[in-house]
Amino acid sequence: MAAWWCGRVITLFLCVHLTVGQIPNVSIHAYKPKGFSVSIPDGQNIGLFAFHGNINRGINKNDVGTIAGEVLKAKNGMWIYEDPELELKVGDVINYYVFVSMNSKGYLKDNLSFTVTKLEDRSIVTGPIRPGTVLPEDCKPTRTKVRGGFACAGQTLFEDNFDMLDESVWQIEQYIPNTHPEYPFVSYQHLATDQTVSTAGGTLRITPKLQQDLPGFTNETILSGTLNLFSGCTSSADSCLIQVDGADILPPVVSGRITSKTFAFTYGKVYVRAKLPQGDWLYPEILLEPFLHKYGS
Ligand SMILES: *[C@@H]1O[C@H](CO)[C@@H](O)[C@H](O)[C@H]1NC(C)=O
Ligand SMILES: *[C@@H]1O[C@H](CO)[C@@H](O)[C@H](O)[C@H]1NC(C)=O
Ligand SMILES: *[C@@H]1O[C@H](CO)[C@@H](O)[C@H](O)[C@H]1NC(C)=O
Repeated sequence: MAAWWCGRVITLFLCVHLTVGQIPNVSIHAYKPKGFSVSIPDGQNIGLFAFHGNINRGINKNDVGTIAGEVLKAKNGMWIYEDPELELKVGDVINYYVFVSMNSKGYLKDNLSFTVTKLEDRSIVTGPIRPGTVLPEDCKPTRTKVRGGFACAGQTLFEDNFDMLDESVWQIEQYIPNTHPEYPFVSYQHLATDQTVSTAGGTLRITPKLQQDLPGFTNETILSGTLNLFSGCTSSADSCLIQVDGADILPPVVSGRITSKTFAFTYGKVYVRAKLPQGDWLYPEILLEPFLHKYGS
């Protein structure tokens, strides 16, 4: 029994000792007009990050704080707990402790406090946008907002040099743009082989083809057949099927179109280096579209 307690004491001592070196530094932000975030950088097989804090009064390491949260997953290289509704004012003192599980062991860092010295703009960055991006040491506030992440002033948020076509980043579209002016001349298709969209030597190429040259089609079926793009359709069902009807023939041209899947931002500069073709019936497009196609967004 005595030996067991001794073991416990030693373990506790080791834990306390390890906490100091191992729990990454906690970073806390108070926002205007309201909002609070606390974060630690990812690393060392972290499996959980918990925060408990009281405002302007002490907290014991077993208390549930008035600000309390548990995070089970890192986001963009950060473990972030946020309370967007919490209103803090300059001078408030948050007494807190954090608990982190690393390599399946728990570590506590307690008796910590943070004094609110300023309220920051909401878009201040606590984490980079893509995993693996290094957060600049000197992160300046910016009005830029990034979906699912944060931004530092002057930071590149998204870049693609098209050394390959990363389909986790870009969606290759497949539909007939029947609500656009280009209808009824074109369909966008994600072909199984000999794609309309491809990359070579760090260049993205969009290569149109004629529908009548694709397997299953002839110059006659363009005037009498059906184009069914349901398999792999990236739009609504009525945009993926068309049947010849009187003067309405099948779209004779098959082209390519890609859209960023998840990246979205508000405010910022966009640089695109592109070579556009010239010719009748060609309408190259590079557009910023609303992430959600809600009217007025
Ligand atoms: C954590 O903060 C302490 C005290 O401000 C500092 O000395 C240390 O370098 C920081 N550690 C990291 C990893 O940033
Ligand atoms: C908590 O920190 C304060 C100031 O840093 C110190 O005076 C106090 O002894 C600490 N308490 C515990 C329980 O570690
Ligand atoms: C289709 O191509 C064939 C062979 O070139 C030609 O004889 C025929 O007139 C074409 N039909 C149409 C509708 O253009």
